[in-house]
Formats: sequence, structure tokens, C-alpha cells
Amino acid sequence: MRNRNTIKSLLAATTSPGSVQVCGWVRSVRSGKEVSFITLNDGSCFASLQLVAQSAQLADLAGLATGACLHATGMLIASPAAGQRWELQLETLEVTGAADETYPLQKKQHSLEFLRSIAHLRPRSNTFGAVFRLRSQLAFAVHQFFQHRGFVYVQTPIITANDCEGAGEMFRVTTLDPSQPPLTEGRIDWREDFFGERTGLTVSGQLQGELFATAFSDIYTFGPTFRAENSNTSRHAAEFWMIEPEIAFADLTDNCQLAEDFLRYMVSYALEQCQEDLDFFNARIEKGLLEKLHALAAARFERVTYTQAVALLLKSKCTFEFPVQWGKDLQAEHERYLTEQIFSGPVFVTDYPRHIKAFYMRDNDDEKTVAAMDLLVPRVGEIIGGSQREECLERLQNKMAAQGIAAGDMEWYLDIRRWGSCPHAGFGLGFERLLMYLTGMENIRDVIPFPRTPGNARF
Ligand code: 4AD
Ligand code: MG
Repeated sequence: MRNRNTIKSLLAATTSPGSVQVCGWVRSVRSGKEVSFITLNDGSCFASLQLVAQSAQLADLAGLATGACLHATGMLIASPAAGQRWELQLETLEVTGAADETYPLQKKQHSLEFLRSIAHLRPRSNTFGAVFRLRSQLAFAVHQFFQHRGFVYVQTPIITANDCEGAGEMFRVTTLDPSQPPLTEGRIDWREDFFGERTGLTVSGQLQGELFATAFSDIYTFGPTFRAENSNTSRHAAEFWMIEPEIAFADLTDNCQLAEDFLRYMVSYALEQCQEDLDFFNARIEKGLLEKLHALAAARFERVTYTQAVALLLKSKCTFEFPVQWGKDLQAEHERYLTEQIFSGPVFVTDYPRHIKAFYMRDNDDEKTVAAMDLLVPRVGEIIGGSQREECLERLQNKMAAQGIAAGDMEWYLDIRRWGSCPHAGFGLGFERLLMYLTGMENIRDVIPFPRTPGNARF
């Protein structure tokens, strides 16, 4: 059926192409005495095509029900019905894949929780059709943004011996027999393992990204990232996609500017290219979504230091579950209060206390804070995290020693400070957090095709 017409192309036609053929999945069947209507969707766009048949044409067809897969031919004619320009006057119909009333996605309002339990079928629903079309287009936009600016796309490894964020939240990768691991003095001897050392799934491509930035100046990664943190929240997944640009000859201000340009580009791209799907989110998922996105595309992103943010939170007199105190990391509730209540829009929080941030962040002159930045947005909270990197070998070595990171395993990372070191900075944008922001979907499980969260890796 390679010469089939997509429903998207048919619905966009300005004049009737005449006789056409379509394939897709039935959303609903309405049988009348004389005339019957079938709504067919092929995923090419949000809207479905209405097939109009003489009921007698369908009389002998087995398996024609919601969920069935059809191959239809007919004439595309102007539709007398409201809200659709074209409909298909059916000539021939073949049931490629039958369905019956046991099909779980019957035409009614299903809860997102229920749809999560049928993650293998939910792409055929309106909501998830819209989510995953948007996801695909936005992935393309990521590449377009960076490629237009001359960034080199680097595929960093998935299996690695380094825990970039230093929080010990890696999934282990091993071929050792867990019931009989090789032991030396009672401890597992990783030298016997496949890679000859202890390895896991990457938590970030940043460290390798830095190596490439000191050769190509501007690079980005876009790939899956894994975190074994057991936080069962609506914003955390154990497997998620991250975009990590790394730029040489850049400081924290340049980094914030790139992040702002990037986010603005993604929002504008969605508004221009994904209109039909965004209209659906605006009507059914988050009221006022379009207005919010238009406002963001035009907004000035605010900037405050961590120290200022803490002062603002203390001044707010709001009672939080976790008390606000200089030196403690901001919790999700604090982040949301800042972006939703205080700034009512996107805000960069910069210059966090040194001891709550990763070892690679550049020390500020005050010797208390580092050149870090998080971008917070309403509803989602932290969407981007990044920093200027410590480019001085000696200072970096001291920081690693202070955080108990063995330099021996990281000599390759230190080498770029030994030869041809330069100021550089970068950040990570969580792709699913961005999609949550753009769609209004409130649970990260609903913007990734097959979510991996504690206790859940089926499908
Ligand atoms: O703030 P994070 O941990 O920063 C890094 O990984 C740096 N190495 C990035 C860099 O500077 N190149 O993560 C970056 C972003 C977060 O702001 C968030 O959007 C997302 O990744 N993220 C998650 N998204 C979903 N589930 C999780 N468990 C996430 N953890 C982080
Ligand atoms: Mg972070």
C-alpha cells in the first residue's frame, strides 16, 4: 500500500484529488439503516477521516469495529458535515486486521492512569497520538537548532565507568554471575568483569561532551540517560532523554543565553509546526496553554542568584514542607514557588553553594559558591541544569579530592586541563520535562513512549 494517501495530506487538500486510498485504524463506527459512518485515523495528524458508506456495503464484513485496521478506497468529496472539509465516499473496504468489543480503547474518555496500563495501545488514542507526534517533531527541532548554529552532534557512550553527577545513582552493567561473583578479600573483583572495571549506564554525557568541546568548540549530545534514584515523583524517570550542549570560550552568562535561546526556539517551533496537536492540549489538558507558550516565546527570562532566591523565599513568609536555609538545596516546592508565585515565568537561579553541586563546576571568587545555573519554569520546576566548568587543573584536582573522587579514574578528564585548557560551559535539558511544559501533561510517564520508573519496565 505504498501508494496510499495519508489522511493528513487528504485533509489538507485544496481541491479533491478524486479517487484515493487510505489505511488506518477505526476510532468509531456508526451504523444507520441506509448510511454508515466510520472514523479512521492513521496517526499522520490529529484529525480522523470520515468514511461514508451505504450500510449494505458493510453487511458482510467481519471484524469491523473500533480498533480494526482498514484499507479503503473511494472518492474524496466535500463534506456537508460541520468541522471537516473532506470525507471519503467509500468504494471498496477491506478489513486488514479485525477487532471486536474486547478492544480496550473503546470510544470513551479513559483516564491517563488506565492508558498507562495499556502503554502498548495508548499511541492510538487522541492524547497520546498528539504527545508522540509532538515529541517526534521537537526531537527534529533540537537538531535543527544546534545544526543551524554549527554545533557538532556527538554520540556519547551509554555504558561508562564514570558517575558524572557523583551521586552514586547508576544502574550497574555487568556480565558477572550475581550468585557467584569473583571475590578478592570478600569484595567483588570488578577486574574480572566484562570491561575489567566497574561500569554502569550513563547519568550524563557531559564529561565526554567536554572532551569534544575542547576540539570542536561547540557540541551537543542528545541521547538516553539513566538514573537509579528511587524517587517516585511525576517528574522523575529512571530512563529519560537529555540534550547537553557544551560550548568552549564561554562563561555562565553565555551559557544562560544559549539556554534561553534554545528554549525559546523550541517553544516557537512547537507553536508554528504543531498547531493542531497544541490546540488539543490547550482545550483538553491545560487551559491557557497557548497563551502561556506565546508569553514564554516573548518573555525576558529573569535571573537571580541562589542567595537572592533564598532571601526572597524567606521574605515570602510561605510555609514550606522543607525549611528554606542558605546552604541547603532548593526543593521542588521552593523552585515552583519562585517561578510560579514570585516571577510568574521562567527564571534562572545561579551561583549555588559549592558543597551542594557537582565537582566540575567552577568556583566563584567568593569561595562559597559555584558558577551553576538552573532554569525553572512554572508547573515543571527545574527544566535545565548547567554550569561553567572548572578549567584550572589544580583547582579541579583540589575539588575532586575534597569530594572524594579518585583522580586515577579520571585522568582523561583532567588531561584537557593539562593541554590547551579553555573556559567552557554547558547545560542539560531534560527532554521529557520540556515536553511536559509544552503539552501540559503533568506526569513524565505520559510524555515518554514506554516509561521506566521504579517497579515498572514492562512493554
Ligand atoms: O541537573 P542535571 O542532573 O544535570 C546534569 O546531568 C548535567 N551533567 C548537565 C550538564 O551540565 N551537561 O540534569 C539535567 C536535566 C534536569 O534539569 C532535568 O530537566 C533532567 O535533566 N533530569 C531528569 N528528567 C527526568 N527524570 C530524571 N530522573 C531527571 N534527572 C534530571
Ligand atoms: Mg539539576
